[in-house]
Amino acid sequence: MNTDVATALRDVQKLIEDFDNLVRAVFSGERRGMKPRYTRIDLRPVKVKNQILIQIVTSDGKQDTTTNVLLENLALAELLNSGYANFLVEHRSGSMNVRVTKKHGALVQIMEGEKEQILTHDRAKSRLLGPHDPFLIEVGISDASGQIKPTRRDKYRQVEEFLRLLAPAVKNAIEAGHLARPSEERPLSIIDLGCGSAYLTFAAHQYFRSIGISVEVVGIDIREDSRARNCAIAERLGIRSTIDFRAEEIANTSINSADVVLALHACDTATDDALAWAVSHDAKLIFVAPCCHHDLQRQIIDIPDPWQIVARHGLMKERLADLLTDSFRAQILKMVGYRAEVIEFVGGESTPRNLMIRAVKTRAVPSKSEVERYTEMAKLWNVKPALADRLGIKDK
Ligand SMILES: C[S@@+](CC[C@H](N)C(=O)[O-])C[C@H]1O[C@@H](n2cnc3c(N)ncnc32)[C@H](O)[C@@H]1O
Repeated sequence: MNTDVATALRDVQKLIEDFDNLVRAVFSGERRGMKPRYTRIDLRPVKVKNQILIQIVTSDGKQDTTTNVLLENLALAELLNSGYANFLVEHRSGSMNVRVTKKHGALVQIMEGEKEQILTHDRAKSRLLGPHDPFLIEVGISDASGQIKPTRRDKYRQVEEFLRLLAPAVKNAIEAGHLARPSEERPLSIIDLGCGSAYLTFAAHQYFRSIGISVEVVGIDIREDSRARNCAIAERLGIRSTIDFRAEEIANTSINSADVVLALHACDTATDDALAWAVSHDAKLIFVAPCCHHDLQRQIIDIPDPWQIVARHGLMKERLADLLTDSFRAQILKMVGYRAEVIEFVGGESTPRNLMIRAVKTRAVPSKSEVERYTEMAKLWNVKPALADRLGIKDK
């Protein structure tokens, strides 16, 4: 149903203010030409010390912030009009979905169906991957009864948090037109380079399918035993037609394109192979969490002053080389038309390898000073980063 935006948002507001029936509301996406402060806002009623409050979880794409306020202190109309494009309100007897479009005003979808209102305020962060999901049991993260195995908890958390960052980026890229809207005929293509036991590969496949995004996923790993095991799992899960595994070197994979490139802990310069593959195959989104870094450790021999005061300590030299490696990687991505950021994707208690390089293809031409910064830095340390080598980036 089409209606005007003001009417639709008034209806959304009424449903949210019907506190006795509200289950949750989510605001996300961006209206054309508007920039809301948060990537997403989740609202739901909670009971705190016998008082019903509204819990607001704001997300900036990196982390969530939770506050509980009285309904009268919530500037609801202001939030509704702050530039979001999608509104979902779930209530005890159904849901209302509003999508604001440039062409059609507000597209409103109303669905019926009973939903439970849960008022506990400390509900665990909702999981993207339910531990009972058969794929988690098949890949060995959950046991046969659907409990996460204690020895696999860290990997489970890494994959969850990886997806938590990837999913909104994919949705935003689709909304912004950077990625073609996936369909059965033209699914979103994802490649996971250095996939190993394919925890992330399967997770991405299952999660995107669960939210209605058609995907075709490929996992690449040099190891034939990984390929055989992962293909057998895909067969058992009945998803072999949309997920494939190949035993190939990342640099020489027979796959020739992908919309989204993932690499979780691809060893040392395998991360550079993954980044180089993504750049030279015009990937639109790159999500790479590097692993061990030996490339610059090997190359840094003479420490330029005054950096001696850091690098004379072996441990600090190692960490400095890791930071330099990932800084060079992000800078090189910037130089070849990506907006690149280095972020923490999971807490350090899950893995010390918890940095992620997240890059979106913008085709922006780098300024002269950004290129000079790269050159100066490489000259100062007298190094040629593996990624520069693979992409044929000149020292001068
Ligand atoms: C540390 S494991 C990570 C596996 C998986 N991504 C995960 O997070 O569980 C790194 C994987 O990369 C694979 N690998 C390393 N170098 C590779 C290369 N050049 N080409 C293909 N696979 C590679 C290894 O065989 C290994 O399975």
